[in-house]
Amino acid sequence: MNVGAAILEAFYRAGGQFVPLTELECVLKRPTTGVTAEIAELQRLGYKIEVHPHLGYRLVAMPDRLIADDIKARLETFHARSKPRVIGSEIVVFEQTSSTNDLVARMAKTQRGEGLVVFAESQTKGRGRHGRAWASPRGKGLWFSVLLRPNLPLSSAPRITVAASIAVARAIRKASKLDGRIKWPNDVTVNGRKVAGILTELSAEGDEILSAILGIGIDVNCRREDFPSEVAAIATSVELEAGRTFNRPALAAEILRVLDDAYLTAQMDFDSIIAEWARLCTTLGKQVVVTMGKRRIEGHAQALDADGALLLRRDNGRIERILGGDLVVEQT
Ligand code: BTN
Repeated sequence: MNVGAAILEAFYRAGGQFVPLTELECVLKRPTTGVTAEIAELQRLGYKIEVHPHLGYRLVAMPDRLIADDIKARLETFHARSKPRVIGSEIVVFEQTSSTNDLVARMAKTQRGEGLVVFAESQTKGRGRHGRAWASPRGKGLWFSVLLRPNLPLSSAPRITVAASIAVARAIRKASKLDGRIKWPNDVTVNGRKVAGILTELSAEGDEILSAILGIGIDVNCRREDFPSEVAAIATSVELEAGRTFNRPALAAEILRVLDDAYLTAQMDFDSIIAEWARLCTTLGKQVVVTMGKRRIEGHAQALDADGALLLRRDNGRIERILGGDLVVEQT
């Protein structure tokens, strides 16, 4: 961990209290001049730090800006039991990129380890499912991708999206107290509108997954005018629903923490993931229509199977296994 992250970790651990200069020197293993230079650098980045001649330094406010060291520092402060084990092994932040999924796909070819996370403050070619555009306005959301190398056969790849949807819903619920829900297969909703989407892209050889790129887009502090007209009626943001803005780095760290947990559980004990998914899902038990290209299947959304596929019971009683597509809940 580098110097900036170590100081921030000390501040976050102090929970708003003063940290004595001697403690910071100890953390940094550096004399006073090193500490003051680092504090000045953090202030330049937008951190408000109070200096007291006897008590030391106190972090008063953080910028709403994605900074890799900041997210790493926050992850370090989680209790050992809930600290991410895989996700966040490397964190990189770009001011702008075309699509973080494309960037991670390129980085994956250079032997980058599992758990690499790439955030971008904005994307110029953010992608959603079925090649749709994903609006990614600067500084308004969390647009990021995670490199995964799951220990799963290709047939169980849907588990990754299921785990990610649970993690995003869980983190939004915790941060905002909103009723974050899951709409199969990859949407997270609040009050019936979409706040986040997940795009999982795979590279495989036979039945073996070589890598999975998990792309997540969360509309955190988007305003109505930030949504393109085509999605304005169905999209929302955490801010719009909660009526207040959210600190994105704090939400980012919480999501990486719960994502790590859900991702590892999805590989070892998918039954518990299915149970949580069933509690959060708005689709289950409903009469739905799924469209996959020209194919249209109607049925009763019955359950998730052990691979993460949706089981639909058709009117003729037949069970259909659905792996993707667009789903609409029928009005009753
Ligand atoms: C969807 O709901 O259709 C999925 C949206 C996924 C958007 C995210 S933003 C980060 C990552 N980069 C992309 O280009 N797409 C995903």
